[in-house]
Amino acid sequence: MMTSRDKWRVYKRVCVVFFLAAVTLTVVQRGAPFQIERQGRMEAPSEGGENRAQQQNTGLYPGTNTFWKASKGKQAESTATATGTTEESSITQERAGSRTWDVSSANCSANLNFTNQDWFRGLEENFKQFLLYRHCRFFPMLINHPEKCSGETYLLMVIKSIATQHDRREVIRKTWGKEQVVDGKKVKTVFLLGTPSNEAEKANHQKLLEYEDYIYRDILQWDFQDSFFNLTLKETHFLKWFSTYCADVRYVFKGDDDVFVSVENIFEYLEASAQVKNLFVGDVLFKAKPIRRKENKYYIPQALYNKTHYPPYAGGGGFLMDAPLARRLYWASDSLELYPIDDVFLGMCLEVLQVTPIKHNAFKTFGLVKNKDSKLNQEPCFFKSMIVVHKLLPSELIHMWNLVNSNLICSQKVEIL
Ligand SMILES: *[C@@H]1O[C@H](CO)[C@@H](O)[C@H](O)[C@H]1NC(C)=O
Ligand SMILES: *[C@@H]1O[C@H](CO)[C@@H](O)[C@H](O)[C@H]1NC(C)=O
Ligand SMILES: *[C@@H]1O[C@H](CO)[C@@H](O)[C@H](O)[C@H]1NC(C)=O
Ligand SMILES: *[C@@H]1O[C@H](CO)[C@@H](O)[C@H](O)[C@H]1NC(C)=O
Repeated sequence: MMTSRDKWRVYKRVCVVFFLAAVTLTVVQRGAPFQIERQGRMEAPSEGGENRAQQQNTGLYPGTNTFWKASKGKQAESTATATGTTEESSITQERAGSRTWDVSSANCSANLNFTNQDWFRGLEENFKQFLLYRHCRFFPMLINHPEKCSGETYLLMVIKSIATQHDRREVIRKTWGKEQVVDGKKVKTVFLLGTPSNEAEKANHQKLLEYEDYIYRDILQWDFQDSFFNLTLKETHFLKWFSTYCADVRYVFKGDDDVFVSVENIFEYLEASAQVKNLFVGDVLFKAKPIRRKENKYYIPQALYNKTHYPPYAGGGGFLMDAPLARRLYWASDSLELYPIDDVFLGMCLEVLQVTPIKHNAFKTFGLVKNKDSKLNQEPCFFKSMIVVHKLLPSELIHMWNLVNSNLICSQKVEIL
């Protein structure tokens, strides 16, 4: 039995917890507007378009308080205003052409045309799912930033991410994804997301994601499930988005959220390649064979692809392309059926355009060195000489970034490259 003293103790404890919660909330609420103010100051020198967006955002969300309170319906409404109509009209006046995301309905039903055919019945579940919805090409946007490419932008950094990988985005924003101006050339960053595939995670993560976007304004989100086979949708949706909103961008870097990138080396490379037409460079595979072992993540059944080789393609971990080519790739992607592996699909699009991607040794997206314990994996001078190196945990990335950007003296840069 609880004595009255015990009850008093429990009561006290509950009160303390509530008090702490209240204090935390207050701090969080105070904190956010400061951050936004700081961001506003940082971006003050940029041109009108962005300031407009800034004011609009601050106007819509006068404080964190209202942000968290906003009901679902209201939230959707304000997002629509921020991303659609108001911004839209001012942009449309500036330039001719379509400047809206023109997809507003997501209801695309399964294509049951081939469900009673033998080749289909023999397929694994994930391939069935892929084929049933393969014709669903475009989905509405949940979070958009039409203002992202306003004004001349030299390099747009585009990073595939998923809702739960918040820590990766956080580290990228502090390191290679930092928006900056280098020698008068503007670098901008966006993250590409679908919706969480896990229903239970969906509600919580969506709210957190919206808050993250409210602070950083760098999330593009579409209303399709984030799954391995839907990465191709992410590709085509980005190409469409880019063609719609980014008339004044020069180059695009596209990559994963778990890679190391040297922006300095990207600049150096691009300056040396200024004359190259149809620039598409990365860790390119020539004559890669479709994988037929079922255990493999990249397994493809004969029914889906029956040629012996893939066209040349660059590993999706990180590659560079010029903007005119990116726009033509959108056109090419629209002429092909979707393929479940996103980087192979982009290779197919390049083939349609008769563009051969360039292989460069500074892009390491398919495993670095076979031996995981190899010294190269910890060698900052190696990273300093690279453009993309794949797979780093957020803590490893920040560690390597700090090493590479310290007063590092490397003698063997040329040797490694
Ligand atoms: C799907 O969208 C179309 C128009 O875009 C609408 O007419 C139809 O009722 C919708 N169907 C469902 C099931 O929501
Ligand atoms: C299914 O087949 C019918 C008849 O051949 C065709 O009209 C329809 O477009 C097909 N559906 C899809 C989603 O391809
Ligand atoms: C891709 O996303 C759509 C829309 O959310 C979903 O219906 C479909 O099942 C997904 N496809 C795969 C292969 O996960
Ligand atoms: C390969 O696939 C294509 C299209 O799906 C089909 O027309 C062709 O007959 C297939 N070839 C072989 C050898 O199976």
